[in-house]
Amino acid sequence: MKRIVIFASGSGSNAENIISFFSEKPQAEVVAVLTNKSSAKVLERCDRMGVPGFYFNKPAFRESDAVLRLLKGLEADLVVLAGFLWKVPCYLIEAFPNKIINIHPALLPKYGGKGMYGDRVHQAVKENQETETGITIHYVNENYDEGAIIFQAKTKVDPSDTPETIAQKVHQLEYEHFPKVIEKVLS
Ligand code: GRF
Repeated sequence: MKRIVIFASGSGSNAENIISFFSEKPQAEVVAVLTNKSSAKVLERCDRMGVPGFYFNKPAFRESDAVLRLLKGLEADLVVLAGFLWKVPCYLIEAFPNKIINIHPALLPKYGGKGMYGDRVHQAVKENQETETGITIHYVNENYDEGAIIFQAKTKVDPSDTPETIAQKVHQLEYEHFPKVIEKVLS
C-alpha cells in the first residue's frame, strides 16, 4: 500500500476529493495532511475523514528538518501539493526526487510563478481574454511552477465567464483528474 501525504494551506476541497478517492482503492491511501495554516479549513475536512492533520510554521519548514523527519516517519511514498503556496525547500526536493507533485490552476507555463495563485490566476485569464484555460499537474522543483509537466487538461473560457465561473470550471477539472493522475504516478 503506497502512502500519500498531502500539503494544503486552504479550503482543501482537492485534499478531500483525493482522500475519498483513495479510501476505496487498495493500492494507496492518504496517511496525513500537512498545513502551514493552523486555521485552514483543510484541517477540519481531514479530521472529519479520519486522516491526521499536522501544522508546521515557516522556521520549522525552512530552517529545521522537522518536516523531513515527519515525512520519513510517515513513510511517505508521494507528497501531493494541493493548494500549498510556499516554495518547497531544496532539502525536501532532494530527499524526495520526483516524489513531490503540485497542481496549478492554469495551463503552465502560462499564468505561473510567484504570486500567481488562486483567484489571481483566473482574473489574469479573464483580463487577457483567453479562450481556454485548464490545469497542470507537475513535478516540483526549486522554482515555482517550473517542474516537468505530468498532465494538463483544458476547458473553454467564454466571453461571459467571470473569474468565479472560470474557477468553478477549473475546480471541476481538478476533481476529475487529480486523483487519477496521482494513481498513475504511483503505479
Ligand atoms: C486549486 O485550484 C489548486 O489548483 C491550487 O489551489 C487551489 C486549491 O483549492 N493550487 P482547494 O483548497 O483544494 O479547494
